[in-house]
Order: sequence, then structure tokens, then C-alpha cells
Amino acid sequence: MICLIFGVEDSMKIGVLVSGRGSNLEAIIKAIKEGELKNVEIAIVISDNKEAKALEICKKNGVNAIYLNPGEYKTKLEGKPEEEYINKLKEYGVELVVLAGFMRVVKSRFINAFRNRIINIHPSLLPKYPGLHTHERVLQAKEKESGCTVHFVNEQVDGGKRIMQAKVKVLENDTPETLAARILEKEHKILPKVIQMFANNEIDYDCFPDNPIIFEE
Ligand code: GRF
Repeated sequence: MICLIFGVEDSMKIGVLVSGRGSNLEAIIKAIKEGELKNVEIAIVISDNKEAKALEICKKNGVNAIYLNPGEYKTKLEGKPEEEYINKLKEYGVELVVLAGFMRVVKSRFINAFRNRIINIHPSLLPKYPGLHTHERVLQAKEKESGCTVHFVNEQVDGGKRIMQAKVKVLENDTPETLAARILEKEHKILPKVIQMFANNEIDYDCFPDNPIIFEE
């Protein structure tokens, strides 16, 4: 296989899907504002929750954001709402979809609409601890390290090819909250980094190795 890396001319348009606090979204906005993240434009932020703090963050920063009704299911996006999410992202010319604390599983139709152009940030060292309550499970298992992963999204929940990971040590007196806070700091670093790599055309799904890049400070 030949993997060509092309130069970048225009800004890459991203769509960010959120459900709550929005700290990862805020990290992306900050990185763009401070010029650390270049040639990237947030075309639209979509929240499945009207009350999401992420929507306030957008308002404060002049970022285009909407609430879009996610429909009848609590944990997945399927059917008509799924179609509406796809259409909205397409309408805004989104080239990369970033799931940043979007608390819903996306299904085949959505995945096919943006095949290999959807990424997610997950607070564990995948493939370990996919799903919810990661920090509790890490502590229960007496793991010595944990961290976060940015990965491609496919039909398997938190199971797509991993792109970048950052590790943190688990401390003896860690609680789920203290561990989560240290990992979150790393999330805010690796998510903008991976987005930059997409904008630079440095990531091609087929050419990307099976092992993630390990982020070190
Ligand atoms: C983060 O821990 C992320 O890894 C997980 O959901 C949380 C979202 O946090 N997927 P925020 O909304 O970005 O503050």
C-alpha cells in the first residue's frame, strides 16, 4: 500500500458532539484560540442535552452550537435522530467528527456516513476498561497505571483502532475523582494533538499502525 501525505491548504472543519461538562471541547477551543491548533475550524457543536455546560462554553466563546433532540433512546443514537445528526454535520461540511464526552453509542449508519473520520476520547488505556466507570474498575483491579486514549470509532464500543494514549501512574491514595482529574489533564492535551494530526493529513486509517502513539511530556 502506498501512503501519501499531502500538504494542507484550507482549514479542516470539525464537528464536536457533547453531552455535558465540555472540558475537552473547551481545550479544543483554547488550543485554536491560542494558535496551538492550526488550520482547524469548529464548524458546529451538537449537544444531545439542552442543559449541557458545553453549550454555555460555546456561547461564551462564539462557537456555533445547537441542541439536537437525540430521540427516544437513552444510550444510543439511532433512527430519525441519527439521520438528523448526520444531516446537520454534513450541512456544515464537517470533515472530522469528534466525540468529546458524547454519552451515546453511535451506530452503523452514522459510522458509515463518516467512516474512519470519527474519533473519541476515552479515559482508560484501551483495550483495557472500555465502557463506563473506568476509574472505579481500575482502582478495584489495583492497576499501577491508567490513562486515556483517542481512538477511531467503529461498531465496537471503544474498540476502534487506537491513535494516541497518555499514561498516568495510579497513586496509593487515589479515589476515582483524583485519578479522573489527573487523566483529564492528559485528555486535554492529546485530543487537540490528534485533531492537529488529522488537519495535517498525517493520519490515514489504513496506514495507521496497530499500536497507538504514546504521548510523553
Ligand atoms: C471525559 O472523561 C472523556 O474521556 C469521556 O467523557 C468525559 C467528558 O468530559 N468520554 P468533558 O465533557 O469533556 O469535560
